[in-house]
Amino acid sequence: MKACLVLSVLGAAIAPAFASVVPRQAKGKLPPVTVKGNAFFAGDERFYVRGVAYQPGGAADAADPLLDLEGLKRDVANFKLLGINTIRIYTIDNSKNHDEGMKLLDDAGIYLALDANTPKYSLNRENEKTLHRSYNDVYLKSIFATIDAFAEYNNLLLFFSGNEVINERNNTNAAPYIKAVTRDMKQYISNRHSRTIPVGYSAADVAENIEEQALYFNCGTDDERSDFFAFNDYSWCDPSSFTESGWDQKVKTYEDYSKPIFLSEFGCITNTREWGEIAALYSQNMTSVYSGGLVYEYTVEPNGFGLVEVGNDGNIKPNKDFERLAKAYKATANPRGDGGYKKSGSASECPKESKEWEVKDDSLPAMPKAAQKFMDEGAGTGPGLAGDGSHFAGEPSESTATPGSGSPTRTPTPGSGSVAGNGNGGGEGAASSLDVPVRFLGMIAASALFGAVLLF
Ligand SMILES: *[C@@H]1O[C@H](CO)[C@@H](O)[C@H](O)[C@H]1NC(C)=O
Ligand SMILES: *[C@@H]1O[C@H](CO)[C@@H](O)[C@H](O)[C@H]1NC(C)=O
Repeated sequence: MKACLVLSVLGAAIAPAFASVVPRQAKGKLPPVTVKGNAFFAGDERFYVRGVAYQPGGAADAADPLLDLEGLKRDVANFKLLGINTIRIYTIDNSKNHDEGMKLLDDAGIYLALDANTPKYSLNRENEKTLHRSYNDVYLKSIFATIDAFAEYNNLLLFFSGNEVINERNNTNAAPYIKAVTRDMKQYISNRHSRTIPVGYSAADVAENIEEQALYFNCGTDDERSDFFAFNDYSWCDPSSFTESGWDQKVKTYEDYSKPIFLSEFGCITNTREWGEIAALYSQNMTSVYSGGLVYEYTVEPNGFGLVEVGNDGNIKPNKDFERLAKAYKATANPRGDGGYKKSGSASECPKESKEWEVKDDSLPAMPKAAQKFMDEGAGTGPGLAGDGSHFAGEPSESTATPGSGSPTRTPTPGSGSVAGNGNGGGEGAASSLDVPVRFLGMIAASALFGAVLLF
């Protein structure tokens, strides 16, 4: 107990001075992006998401595009022509190593916004029973393994804890489960990895409940609140304008929101896409509330949204949408300065239960008991895309969480979240101290001299 006290004092003394140089196995040259107030920052500079959704093969044929290096090389060249800084990927194989693909992106100045779920390892929103059943330790093991596989890449921008799980007026009962998953992911990151990585939800733009969703995911204790809110928006159909599209109202609605907001998909195809929304999205009209967005989507799939046609021979042909989008990006610089972001703000108030918001109170399901060991031991190797799936596996949650229970419970072991889901435990046991452990001190001093360990 005494030794612990001494360490606390040392830890407290050393933490502020070296907080930013805790050693990690940083991979990549891009500066990690952090959240400040209602904006993203890369170093001291405001960061706007300028990106596309990258899902070659479409949603039906879930494959990991980072493992197809030939295809990725071909596509990175086009990302550069477009002038984007982010891609969104919906499915990756968390049993595989991603060094090469992530380095290709890093070298091209591109960040990754990554969905942590896969079709088989996700919440089952069919009804209240399947929601409860699918929030289990086997599911959490998979998304934690995804965190381990990507946390050390500097150009991992953020994790989506879910995408369009609520997609109707009548399934808002999924909200507490989405929020519990977000909480668990945040806790796993702070327990196992030595940098913060933004975690948030990507919502479907369901007019009747979208605002409730935004408020709900940013209300309650800090451990339960998302780091950002994102939604998929197809309301700007060219020819349109800031006011005609209703985007002016979407700025007003969220003007007091205290977390970053961005469009996790956009690009209506009702008429020819002239990309008029690019000029609006990156103008001062919007940047006090919004941090950019992701165009849906890179390849032409059966739903017809793509920017490039993929031939049978693997060759790709950018279409007219691609050319016009590249032009729109080129013509649109980010606002100067900080874009009018809010430096601070408070939690939202939780929405009240209603016909359109079927969430009784602010309580969340507790993390399933069998998942708690991952916080100390790591999640181990992920199941990848081939496993049996998690919808009816493992043990579900047994109780209601105490607010605050998702706060960090241990200090991360530097570099312990190694690639390919191999989260080695580091023998930390049930340590619950948040002070700087003694074995850190030498490393912190060393890294103050030499900087973080750069692996590529
Ligand atoms: C929710 O509404 C959709 C139609 O909008 C319907 O297909 C579905 O069965 C409904 N689900 C429940 C649980 O009532
Ligand atoms: C910004 O808003 C004003 C007033 O609503 C509008 O006239 C202008 O076109 C908007 N700017 C952009 C780039 O959309």
